[in-house]
Amino acid sequence: MRRSLAISLGLTLANLSLSPVHAHPDGHNDAVLPWQEATSWPDRIVATIDGDPATTLAVTWRTDRSVSETSAQIALARPDARFDREALSVPAQTEALDLSVIKGKGFTFEVSDNTGLPKTHHHSVRFDGLEPDTLYAYRVQGADGMWSEWFQTRTAPRDGPIRFIYLGDAQNNLDSHWPRVIREAFRTAPDARFILHAGDLVNRGSRDLEWANWFKAGGFIHGMIPAIGVTGNHEYDDFELSNEEEVELLSILWRPQFRFPVETGLSPELHETVYSIRYAPDLEIFVLNTNIEDMSEQAVWLDAKLAASDARWRVVTMHHPIFSSGRGRDNPESRARLLPILLKHEVDLVLQGHDHTYARGTLPAGAARGQTPVRQAATNKAGVMTMFVNSVSGAKMYPFNKDGWDRYAPNGVTLDRKGENTQFFQVIELEDGQLHYAAYSADGALYDEFRLEKSADGSKALANTATLPPERTFENTLPYEKLEE
Ligand SMILES: [Fe+2]
Repeated sequence: MRRSLAISLGLTLANLSLSPVHAHPDGHNDAVLPWQEATSWPDRIVATIDGDPATTLAVTWRTDRSVSETSAQIALARPDARFDREALSVPAQTEALDLSVIKGKGFTFEVSDNTGLPKTHHHSVRFDGLEPDTLYAYRVQGADGMWSEWFQTRTAPRDGPIRFIYLGDAQNNLDSHWPRVIREAFRTAPDARFILHAGDLVNRGSRDLEWANWFKAGGFIHGMIPAIGVTGNHEYDDFELSNEEEVELLSILWRPQFRFPVETGLSPELHETVYSIRYAPDLEIFVLNTNIEDMSEQAVWLDAKLAASDARWRVVTMHHPIFSSGRGRDNPESRARLLPILLKHEVDLVLQGHDHTYARGTLPAGAARGQTPVRQAATNKAGVMTMFVNSVSGAKMYPFNKDGWDRYAPNGVTLDRKGENTQFFQVIELEDGQLHYAAYSADGALYDEFRLEKSADGSKALANTATLPPERTFENTLPYEKLEE
């Protein structure tokens, strides 16, 4: 059924009416269109993982509607100037996207003022049959002969060390305050194998211009280092039906813009938002979608996936934290549903966003397996069950809970490090039975660090070796004022 569109968030009608012109103090201008025109050249090029990352590489890009058939090429990144002579061509899959039409289950919204909203084509390929731990060069094409530059990227190793970057919410001021963070992360860990974005990549999930800014901020980094994406609440838009009911829909840009694994056993609405990636024999990443009200389907899936995983390190990522750090925030339902599963399978690390603060805590070994744990003395004082992190990479900041994580004491978790009013990025490295975690502020200074050592029997010992700077708070940092967007 087609309905005229009234939108409470997302593509607001105010954004579509282009007058009067009003300049904001940070240089934004209401006359700027809320979308970015596509052309017959490829843009928004992003590498992702959709399969075994040792032997495959997925890439997605965008053009205007004039490009309905195109391709990508891949070659070994040899030092020879004409390495491209050995390139293989792969035809792209092409999907049409109409930003003026948003389809939900059993209904279709049309933006009432749809003049000028772009109709685009999103293309993707998956390069198969690659060699592990090998440097490749690839490029993507728009219209005939309109090629991107060659991007170099390395496939996953079968053994040896792995480094990756983890970023909390980017979300706001993507064209002003976030670029420095992803670029400093790249400078700190240029050999990162992938970048994990823990949700709220943008603020209004269906506002095309915000995605344009997200892609521009990362630029060639998005093409060189594959992304693993988690959906946050801001990747969903609230739409008001004419009967005043509200529906939440995943941004229509998510699936066309990224190519993530489809878990065919899950409901279609979870596809490309709930998936696992066995990055290497030593590492498996499990991605959840905590925007779904009823988490029971994902809980069953996670339990089975973790039971079947023999990866040495298991990392779970989701947007809404198990233990909240933003003042007045809590997610008791997902905690009740997911925490017992994380503990039952002794998940090593949980990477989250949402609270626009920094928090890192430990759940000690000795927490009851498979049950909501009660506080008990850890059998081994340095023994660890699971480490939890909430972080933020963008410029929107919230105050930390006044009592820290005291209210989670019955769960047995301790808060080891916190931070406010600071943009962060994290670099995580796995090597020889050790997981090294480091959080950096946007200036590249070390803010937090720990080392987890795993024994052959699976037990983990925690060590903190770095001298850390004083904890950053709203009191000892420059005054915070929310930026205009
Ligand atoms: Fe957020």
